[in-house]
Amino acid sequence: MTATGTEFKAAARTQWDAAAAGWDKHTPALRAWLRQTTDAMIAMADVQPGWRVLDVAAGAGDQTLDLAERVGPAGAVTAVDLSPVLVALGQQRASRAGVAQVRWCVGDGEALPVEPDSFDAAVSRLGLMLFPDPLQGLREMHRALRPGGRICTVVFAGPLRNPCVATLLATARRHAGLPALDPAELGMPGSLFSLSRPGQLDALFHEAGFVDVATTAMDAVFRMPTVDDYLAFVRSSASPVLQILSRLDDGAAQAAWDDIRGQMAVFGSSSGWAGPNELLLTAARKPQGAA
Ligand SMILES: C[S@@+](CC[C@H](N)C(=O)[O-])C[C@H]1O[C@@H](n2cnc3c(N)ncnc32)[C@H](O)[C@@H]1O
Repeated sequence: MTATGTEFKAAARTQWDAAAAGWDKHTPALRAWLRQTTDAMIAMADVQPGWRVLDVAAGAGDQTLDLAERVGPAGAVTAVDLSPVLVALGQQRASRAGVAQVRWCVGDGEALPVEPDSFDAAVSRLGLMLFPDPLQGLREMHRALRPGGRICTVVFAGPLRNPCVATLLATARRHAGLPALDPAELGMPGSLFSLSRPGQLDALFHEAGFVDVATTAMDAVFRMPTVDDYLAFVRSSASPVLQILSRLDDGAAQAAWDDIRGQMAVFGSSSGWAGPNELLLTAARKPQGAA
């Protein structure tokens, strides 16, 4: 790993640890937002009862428990995340739900703490785009899968299909004194839109050794009662935005949040707040006979 990759991940871990309680608290809203996407991800990875499944960048474990339910008591799920605080919260969620067949690990998706050829399926929900080297992340999932094993990842489509997220990031960058990103830079490694260029995901999956690669776009509208509920979610949980604004003093940060609130309010109506999002699901398979 390069020195830059190491520093990037250390900063990401600190920021996700800080945002972990907020992310965990908003699990019901995240769950509703990602319900259809999660069902599609599990179906596209073809997860079956009794399977061993790897969940990379598992966060507080919302989709992990869905995977555990799908594989049933005869199966097993390994959940890996960079943030020790999120992993601890996932463990607590599983224990409250009486789910015993999940192994929780703090670890880097680019250097997975798992044995080769040891999983029937691997998934990653909204994690891979945050990796500084997503190809290495995919190579690691390929290594972890048995020959014939299935994979499905979920990442954000581009800024035009995710106007709230794009506006959030652009406004945060402007207040933090960072230059506006031109379209060519929006896909910079480790950022929310880093895997959104047409054909990029399929090319990376092929390069990592996968076959039968197919990417599908899915709408995922984020619904909240009011714009202030959405702001509360972002302010406590949206680590990439918090990371940008962490360089501001309290007054400057409040000015940024006021500006963001004004811009997010346009997505509100008498029936509530609804932010359009589009996510990309990529499904593939490790070929039979592959090492
Ligand atoms: C947007 S959250 C998604 C969490 C969870 N999959 C979900 O959908 O609720 C992104 C997660 O990626 C994790 N993450 C970021 N970089 C990572 C890396 N290099 N290795 C493992 N996890 C990573 C963060 O700690 C965080 O939990």
